Amino acid sequence: RSVSAPDWRGRIRRYADFPRPGVGFLDLMPVLADGESFGQLLEALAEPWRGSMKPDVVAGVESRGFLIGAPLARVLGCGFIPLRKPGKLPGTVHRRSYSLEYGEDALEMQADALAPGRRVLLVDDVLATGGTLAAALALLGELGAEVVGAGLVLEIVPLGGRARLPSDCRVEVLERVG
Ligand code: PRP
Ligand code: MG
Repeated sequence: RSVSAPDWRGRIRRYADFPRPGVGFLDLMPVLADGESFGQLLEALAEPWRGSMKPDVVAGVESRGFLIGAPLARVLGCGFIPLRKPGKLPGTVHRRSYSLEYGEDALEMQADALAPGRRVLLVDDVLATGGTLAAALALLGELGAEVVGAGLVLEIVPLGGRARLPSDCRVEVLERVG
């Protein structure tokens, strides 16, 4: 790429008061909309997980984690499995509920999605309060995965999500925002 090409970070857009008053929303969609930026983002996400850290499978969290996790899996040369919102996956599923600011949500994974001992990289777009990622990690552990770590684009540091994650989980974040 040319030296003057803008970094993918420059395409992140911030919206005040979305989806609720008082919330500042960081929109990654313009990064994905530009082919060069999307490629830069995927390369940066892949970098910590090459060589001896390489996973067998990337697990992505519905829905924004799918947009990043599935292409990242192919950049790394591995497969992809989804952690989905309830009621979307057929067959026997395992479920973990987690609390949101208001109410509860849950993630599900197919019981036979992973052979025991598979090395899994968990991927999502944003680490905020950490509820989503903590539930996803618990689900993967319950299903016998060997989690090599978690890869995210953004961490909203003041929300303190990292404290909700197991301290032995390697977490790689591209951009920490205040
Ligand atoms: C957003 C974001 C992360 C999660 C982070 O997903 O994509 O998955 O919140 O928040 P937390 O750290 O406080 O749990 P959301 O559930 O809004 O849905 P989406 O991915 O389907 O847009
Ligand atoms: Mg999400």
